[in-house]
Amino acid sequence: MHFDLIRHPVVTSTMDVCRQLAERDAPEGTVVIAGEQTAGRGRAGRVWFSPPGQSLFVSILLRPQLAPCQIGWLTMIGALAVYEMVNEELSDEKAQSSSQLTIKWFNDVLLDGRKLAGVLVETSLTGDWLDYAVLGIGLNVNTRFDDAPEEIRRRATSLREAFRREFDREAVLQSLLRMFSIRYEALPASPVADYARRLDTLGKRVRLSAGEEIVEGEAVRVEEDGALIVVTEKGERVARFGDVA
Ligand code: BTN
Repeated sequence: MHFDLIRHPVVTSTMDVCRQLAERDAPEGTVVIAGEQTAGRGRAGRVWFSPPGQSLFVSILLRPQLAPCQIGWLTMIGALAVYEMVNEELSDEKAQSSSQLTIKWFNDVLLDGRKLAGVLVETSLTGDWLDYAVLGIGLNVNTRFDDAPEEIRRRATSLREAFRREFDREAVLQSLLRMFSIRYEALPASPVADYARRLDTLGKRVRLSAGEEIVEGEAVRVEEDGALIVVTEKGERVARFGDVA
């Protein structure tokens, strides 16, 4: 996959800039990277902590031939790319610090139970046709959370915090794009089995909040479209969105 990197010191969100380029027919592989975001966003309208010069904020324009029910695969390969980048390129440090790397359904990459990265996919559909997708990755590389809201300070981590050194963000970006490219080129083979293997969620009791609803039970599998199957006292529930705790 060929990448065309477009860098900005500050943007509202790399998602916005990438979407604008997509609407102007920019090619697949256009990558928007920012040093800082003033309105970085996560899933469910959350704010993504985006201080200047410490993290990676990346949005990749994709024009894949996928059916609407396969769009969840993009989030999966984004999370797998982060997972594999840390697992393979930083394997020594990971082993030395005996850090646990996992994916939490649906889009979180965790180091020792804390959020290292998040993936956000936004799409433009015409009927059943996927015009384009923008895949955003926020990766906490050298991120310091001193100025972050309490909630984020408690739950987030960075490569710097976990491995106790500063990282070259450019080198991390290049590794991440390399891993992503391998995963993307493997489509349309399903990534679900690989994704499920890395999930820390399966086989555990979970408490899933989806809007107003709370579902409690054992997470048993992930469906082809990314839905999480939870066995509750009342039987199997299919979760298509929500947060697992
Ligand atoms: C999440 O965990 O909810 C997803 C977070 C995605 C954050 C990235 S940072 C780069 C891109 N630009 C954004 O505004 N969001 C994504």
